[in-house]
Amino acid sequence: MRTLVIIPTYDERESLPTTLADVRHHVPDVDVLVVDDASPDGTGELADALAAEDAAVHVLHRTGKGGLGAAYVAGFRWGLERGYELLVEMDADGSHRAVDLPRLLARAAAPDGPDLVVGSRWVQGGAVVNWPWYRSALSRGGNTYVRLALGMPVRDATAGFRAYPARTLRRIDLGSVASHGYCFQVDMTWRVVRDGGRAAEVPITFVERVAGVSKMSRAIVVEALTRTTAWGLAHRGRQLRSLLRGTDRRR
Ligand code: GDD
Ligand code: MN
Repeated sequence: MRTLVIIPTYDERESLPTTLADVRHHVPDVDVLVVDDASPDGTGELADALAAEDAAVHVLHRTGKGGLGAAYVAGFRWGLERGYELLVEMDADGSHRAVDLPRLLARAAAPDGPDLVVGSRWVQGGAVVNWPWYRSALSRGGNTYVRLALGMPVRDATAGFRAYPARTLRRIDLGSVASHGYCFQVDMTWRVVRDGGRAAEVPITFVERVAGVSKMSRAIVVEALTRTTAWGLAHRGRQLRSLLRGTDRRR
């Protein structure tokens, strides 16, 4: 399968070279697209320099920080236009290990494979390295809330290491995806599952970054919470309406 690994960057100068080298080493047949939002630290120029030396590496420059979701949507469009059959999301900061990529890709490429493969921290065999207890608690709590609110059978819906077959992305109206932070991951998972798609989880080890800083903020958590609650209420409303219709019919 023609595969594109999309790596969004905002101020990842220190991490990007190793991340790219690791991806090229572990999955040499895969192309890479760096989506940079005009990083003030010059990550975009660095990516251009690395791409100039490696024909498998491409760079998409955006004009300013528009959030993780918008960067991925731009990357998906770029890849779909060029006929890639499998599109992968991966962080630039070393948290997602390239050594886990072959398993992620194999699962997605299997005959009759799922519509989405999530690299999961919170299934048997998954792990997180070097997270303070409150970051783990936030991720576990957030994922439990998502699962209960949406009734979605996914243990790590906020995961940012995942693979989409092109057909899945073509079915989604990417222009209507407005979520910015982690919520983008939940949003995409929910769109796949709500429409009857199948999400599979493969265990990964997530390693907290050693260089640079996380772009996570209070606003990102609040966005995820409010949107998930709204989707959950709409979903439960639909369930209730169809239940009532069923009762009517039985009467
Ligand atoms: N282009 C672009 N624009 N890239 C961005 C932006 C942006 O506005 N914001 C963040 N990124 C890039 C970062 O440079 C990094 O490569 C990746 O997106 C993840 O950002 P981090 O700031 O390192 O996120 P995190 O470690 O807090 O969150 C990770 O875990 C979350 C779940 O716990 C990510 O994998 C999230 O997607 C995931 O939901
Ligand atoms: Mn990170």
